[in-house]
Amino acid sequence: MQRSITVNLGNLVLSLSDAMDLASPALIHHQQRVAFVTWEMAKAAKISNERLERSFIAALLHDIGALTLEDKIALRLSETDNTEEHCVRGGLLIDRVPWFKNSARIIGTHHTQWQEWNDSIENPIVFDSQIVSLSDFLERLVDRDQYILFQNERIVEEIRSNTRSLFHPMIVDLFLSVCNREEFWLDLVSPRLYSILLNEGPFRKIEIILDDIALISELFRDIIDFRSHFTATHSSGVAASASILAKIFGLTDMEIRLMEVAGNLHDLGKLAVPNSILEKPGKLTKEEMAVIKSHTYYTYFIINTIGGLQSIAEWAAYHHERLDGTGYPFHCAAGELSTGSRIMMVADIFTALAEDRPYRNGMSRKEVMEIIGQLSRRQSLDTRIVDLLFDNYEEVYSCMAEKQNCAREFYEKQSALCERLCR
Ligand SMILES: [Fe+2]
Ligand SMILES: [Fe+2]
Ligand SMILES: [Fe+2]
Repeated sequence: MQRSITVNLGNLVLSLSDAMDLASPALIHHQQRVAFVTWEMAKAAKISNERLERSFIAALLHDIGALTLEDKIALRLSETDNTEEHCVRGGLLIDRVPWFKNSARIIGTHHTQWQEWNDSIENPIVFDSQIVSLSDFLERLVDRDQYILFQNERIVEEIRSNTRSLFHPMIVDLFLSVCNREEFWLDLVSPRLYSILLNEGPFRKIEIILDDIALISELFRDIIDFRSHFTATHSSGVAASASILAKIFGLTDMEIRLMEVAGNLHDLGKLAVPNSILEKPGKLTKEEMAVIKSHTYYTYFIINTIGGLQSIAEWAAYHHERLDGTGYPFHCAAGELSTGSRIMMVADIFTALAEDRPYRNGMSRKEVMEIIGQLSRRQSLDTRIVDLLFDNYEEVYSCMAEKQNCAREFYEKQSALCERLCR
């Protein structure tokens, strides 16, 4: 196990941004494309590097406050008038990560029209927010079924016709100065956009350490969990029980911290699953079950793309695997499942049984032990870890419950604040 872990900030933000847009052909690469246009315009405006970076991050994460897949699709297709809520929530969510803090105001105002600003375009926040706003507007005009060079003139005209209402004339002129090459449009829809932004974008050289990775994993834990009132604390519980089990097992301090990050991100791929399936009260159909089964595939794919987080990718993504090969979707054999992955498997199922669900209260210790004990006897779960859980049940349970109470409090505070600000 390596002693220190760093990852490239650009790669991390690009991957997580991608994760939010993976779910539907209507969304794919939406935020990445918005970031590309923002980046081109910011370079042309010759704003400082610091402003360029904050605008780039704001563009990559601009719809982070739209929690459900259904909300994101409605926004992308301009099928909703309620644009305020996701701006406010996005700004609030992002505000507690130091690397992202400066982008919060831009995210909070990315649907603010020029005519609604009571401020000068000389104000850097207004200027940068207008750039992101135009970039988002542009991407939403792209018809994904039509060749881009057959529609660029229509898009430019549409933007031009909104000068002074949606966008300040200076911002429209800035856009006109970058969009006159075919290259701009071809890059915009290129399947290689990820690597263009990674290799040439603003964060080529910024590496961040585990403390920062952990904070960002908490932000993503919340956008995964806050999609539904019922699951608002699930990943917090899994992260807490996985890290306490890792500690009792005797893993190193570094591994315990990595386990917490993996727990925060274990259901990351659920961002690709519609809420109508996640929250369905009755039994899932065969097709719906197939969609659910893809979530850990995406968890692996996204974390692995970040680079440098191989153990976290495995520990997080193998939580539905079983030692006897009956899990999904990788059907790993026992030899492929490391101690970290085995701990996560137990932590996930323990948390799911012990926490309250919409259709039932959390199970008692006796019921939990009966179900997990059965899986352990069947050689589906690692007997050593199950025994550790049973021997230290109270400690693991209270650690999980305490983290979930904190998460519940934070969730309720954020929801109330968001509601108040949107009134
Ligand atoms: Fe938006
Ligand atoms: Fe958007
Ligand atoms: Fe899961």
